Amino acid sequence: MNHNTPSAHLLAYAPVNVMSFDLQTYLKERKTLIDSAMDRYLPSEAEQPSVVHEAMRYSTLDGGKRLRPILTLAACEAVGGQIEMAMPAACAIECIHAFSLIHDDLPCMDNDDFRRGRPTVHKVYGEAMALLAGDALFAFAFQLMSGVSSDIPSSTVLRVWQQIADATGTKGMVGGQVMDMQAQGQQSGLPEIEEIHKRKTGALLKTSVVVGGMLGGGIESELDALEIYGRNIGLAFQITDDILDITGDAEKLGKPIGSDLKLDKSTYPSVIGIEQSRELAIKAVEEAVEALSVFDEKAEPLRAIARFIIEREL
Ligand code: IPE
Ligand code: IPE
Ligand code: MG
Ligand code: MG
Ligand code: MG
Repeated sequence: MNHNTPSAHLLAYAPVNVMSFDLQTYLKERKTLIDSAMDRYLPSEAEQPSVVHEAMRYSTLDGGKRLRPILTLAACEAVGGQIEMAMPAACAIECIHAFSLIHDDLPCMDNDDFRRGRPTVHKVYGEAMALLAGDALFAFAFQLMSGVSSDIPSSTVLRVWQQIADATGTKGMVGGQVMDMQAQGQQSGLPEIEEIHKRKTGALLKTSVVVGGMLGGGIESELDALEIYGRNIGLAFQITDDILDITGDAEKLGKPIGSDLKLDKSTYPSVIGIEQSRELAIKAVEEAVEALSVFDEKAEPLRAIARFIIEREL
C-alpha cells in the first residue's frame, strides 16, 4: 500500500476539518462507516431462523440516508467525544428507524410498495415476516445498546436506554403513528399536526442527537442545546418529508410520491399549503442552528446537516 494514502477506514475516522468541510463527502463517508458497522452487528443470514435475519438485513442494509446515526456521531463529536463511544447506540437507533419504516409501509398502515428504491419488506417476505422483522429489530436495538463501551458510566447508559425507549413508545414514534392513523381522513388543525410530527418523527430524531451528546460526555447545558437543535430539525425533517411527497421525484426518493394525498393524511402542506410549510421548516432550522451557538467548530457538521434537511431532494 502507498503510505501516503490513508486507508478508507482511517479516512472515515478523520476528524472534521472545518476549513475544507464538504457536507456531501462527510455524509458519504459517515454512511459508509455506519453501513459497515450495521453489517458487522446484525445477525447473519446463516443463523436460524434465517428468513427473519434476511428480512432484518434487507430492511437495514443497502439504502437509506443514515441521517439518525450520522446525527448521533456528530453530536458525540460536537461535545468532544470519540465516535466509537456512540456507534452501537447510533446503529440501535437506525434499527428502530428501520422497524418503524417496515411497519409504516404495511397494508394496514400506509400500504406502500417501494422504499429505498426497492420493494418494501412485506412485498418480499410477506406481512407476517415483515411484522416479525420489525419486532426483532426493536429488540435487537436494546441488545446493541448493551454493548456500549465499558468506559461509559452505567448511569449514562441507563439514561440513553430511557431516552430511546421514550422516543419509540407512545410518547414518541408509536404515539405519533397512532395519531397519524387516527387523523387520516379528518380535518386536522396546525397544533394537532405539529404534535403528530413531533412524535412520529421528531422524537427519534431529537433522541439520536441528545444520545450522541450523552455518550460523548456532554454537560447538561450542552445536552439542553442539543435537545433544542434536535427538536427543531425533527420538525423541519417531517415537514420536508410531507412537501417531498408532493413535489419530490419518486426515483430520487426511492419511495412513491402522492402517498399522503391518496390516504388523505394530515400533513403540513394539506393544512397550510406548501409555501407556508416551507417557511415554518426554514424557521425551525434557524432555531436549530441558533441553539448550537454554545458549540465551537466541532458542531459544524450539525449546522450543515440542519440546512441539508430542508434542502434535500431525497
Ligand atoms: C423516512 O425517513 C421516514 C420518515 C420518518 C419521514 P428517512 O427519510 O430518514 O428515510 P431513510 O432512512 O433515508 O430511507
Ligand atoms: C413515517 O412518516 C414516520 C415513521 C415511520 C415513524 P411517513 O409515513 O410520512 O414516512 P414515509 O413518507 O412513508 O417515509
Ligand atoms: Mg406513515
Ligand atoms: Mg409512510
Ligand atoms: Mg411521508
